Amino acid sequence: MVGDQAVTGGAKLYGLGVGPGDPDLLTVKAVKLLAAVPVVAYPAPEGGASLARAIAAAHIPDGKTEIAIETPMVAGRFPADEVYDRYAAKIAGQLTAGRDVAVLCEGDPFLYGSFMYLYLRLADRFPTEVIPGVSSLGACAAVAGAPLVSRNQVLTVLPAPLAEDDLEARLNLAEAAAIMKVGRHLPKVRRVLDRLGRTNRAHYVERATMDEQRVLSMAEAPEDAPYFSMILVRSPEDVEPPS
Ligand SMILES: C[S@@+](CC[C@H](N)C(=O)[O-])C[C@H]1O[C@@H](n2cnc3c(N)ncnc32)[C@H](O)[C@@H]1O
Repeated sequence: MVGDQAVTGGAKLYGLGVGPGDPDLLTVKAVKLLAAVPVVAYPAPEGGASLARAIAAAHIPDGKTEIAIETPMVAGRFPADEVYDRYAAKIAGQLTAGRDVAVLCEGDPFLYGSFMYLYLRLADRFPTEVIPGVSSLGACAAVAGAPLVSRNQVLTVLPAPLAEDDLEARLNLAEAAAIMKVGRHLPKVRRVLDRLGRTNRAHYVERATMDEQRVLSMAEAPEDAPYFSMILVRSPEDVEPPS
């Protein structure tokens, strides 16, 4: 028993990380599962294409039942509970009918992944497994050639939508930091980095490992950033390469 409901046997729910963009960065386990499960679900903006599905497309054989988890895109707001209640019920219907369901998630499902809203609604009723994916943290560091942390340094992960003073206070304490969900918050992040004198130690990474990838120094970063962008701030204590 988990919570007040029995975990039923039979069909299984998978939260399947598809990695940061390059289809070659799906794990072997993810590819095997995509071949095996009869039902594939994925988040998609209302009326738009799903990034997670596009990343995994080459590994999704024909003939699957597909469920697009359509969420209204309202800037700065999380999708309503009602949306996840509705899709959790739909997925529960498939599981109850004995059909395994893989829910695709960009990057890793448990790093700011929307799969966790379904996990919270379904994992106590159905056998559930999370298949980790290559996260954007590792991907951005790799393409920027910027190691995240070394020795006993602390990595701080900060969502850019934080209030400016909060972001500044946390960044001021951080040795090394990854600032995620940059998008329209880029001007605010730039102001904070400038005030803290850390602009020259920051990398801007846009759509890492995707065809449209861009890696720039923070000083060269554009005025407008897409949602899929990240800023990596290196520690002043970093090991410098031998000169
Ligand atoms: C809702 S979070 C999802 C993170 C994802 N689950 C992961 O494991 O990377 C979305 C944020 O992740 C970052 N992100 C995800 N993929 C990225 C990529 N390919 N390049 C740069 N940033 C990315 C961006 O900061 C974006 O705003």
